[in-house]
Amino acid sequence: MPRPYTLLSCAMSLDGYIDDGGPERLRLSSAEDFDEVDELRAGCDAILVGAGTVRSDDPRLLVRSPERRARRVSQGHTADLVKVVLSESGGVDPAARVFTTGDAAKLVYVGAAARAATARRFAAARSDAEVVEAGSDPAAVLADLAARGVRRLLVEGGTGVHTRFLTAGLADELRVAVAPFFIGDPAAPRFVAPGAFLHGPAAPMRLAEARALGDMAILRYLPQTPETA
Ligand SMILES: NC(=O)c1ccc[n+]([C@@H]2O[C@H](COP(=O)([O-])OP(=O)(O)OC[C@H]3O[C@@H](n4cnc5c(N)ncnc54)[C@H](OP(=O)(O)O)[C@@H]3O)[C@@H](O)[C@H]2O)c1
Repeated sequence: MPRPYTLLSCAMSLDGYIDDGGPERLRLSSAEDFDEVDELRAGCDAILVGAGTVRSDDPRLLVRSPERRARRVSQGHTADLVKVVLSESGGVDPAARVFTTGDAAKLVYVGAAARAATARRFAAARSDAEVVEAGSDPAAVLADLAARGVRRLLVEGGTGVHTRFLTAGLADELRVAVAPFFIGDPAAPRFVAPGAFLHGPAAPMRLAEARALGDMAILRYLPQTPETA
């Protein structure tokens, strides 16, 4: 099935957490890291998160820098990316900022059982987000995005989504930004949940880049291909 080139991006603590256990979103990234992620966003066609991230963080998922927004427009794109939310249950609020900000399309992929009710709720809220039926396989979502012209997709979490993409072997690139501190809270979410990962010890990824960005470590991993293995 054709699918977009898929980059997973995540900021984590030294002990592998991507948030703390509190109600407010913890900022793990430095200003420099946010800026690099903004550049990554600006180079993509669409950005995807899970419903858990929408419910807990209410992110906007915009391209922030005016220069990058202007560059995208001069290249014939919208200033923002197509925004994609996965919600099997359909349990996302049409008033969430991801659906009410930005100048590009918004897509909500829901399970078959939730499609009709979710579409009605979004229509009643006069949301212009499109509710699309997705199977539980994220590969089907990627195939649908490819058919809509998405060639480069940025996946920005959270735990459930990273786990599904990485167990299904759907990441073409992984960018991890490691913050120089520990969380140590068992109630906090980790980068991934337990699962049968494609890249276990028998099939490690290739470290394509490792560098310091201030006190953060930026690591870029690629899957092993037959040529690189
Ligand atoms: N540090 C970082 O870089 C970073 C980035 C993003 C998020 N986070 C953190 O991650 C945490 C949230 O993680 P999370 O695991 O709770 O949530 P999540 O991964 O954002 O969303 C999980 C939800 O996505 C939906 N879903 C997953 N796969 C699907 C599929 N194939 N088809 C349809 N729907 C699918 C389900 O929604 P339903 O429940 O609606 O069925 C599932 O419960 C937050 O604490 C947030 O701050 C951190």
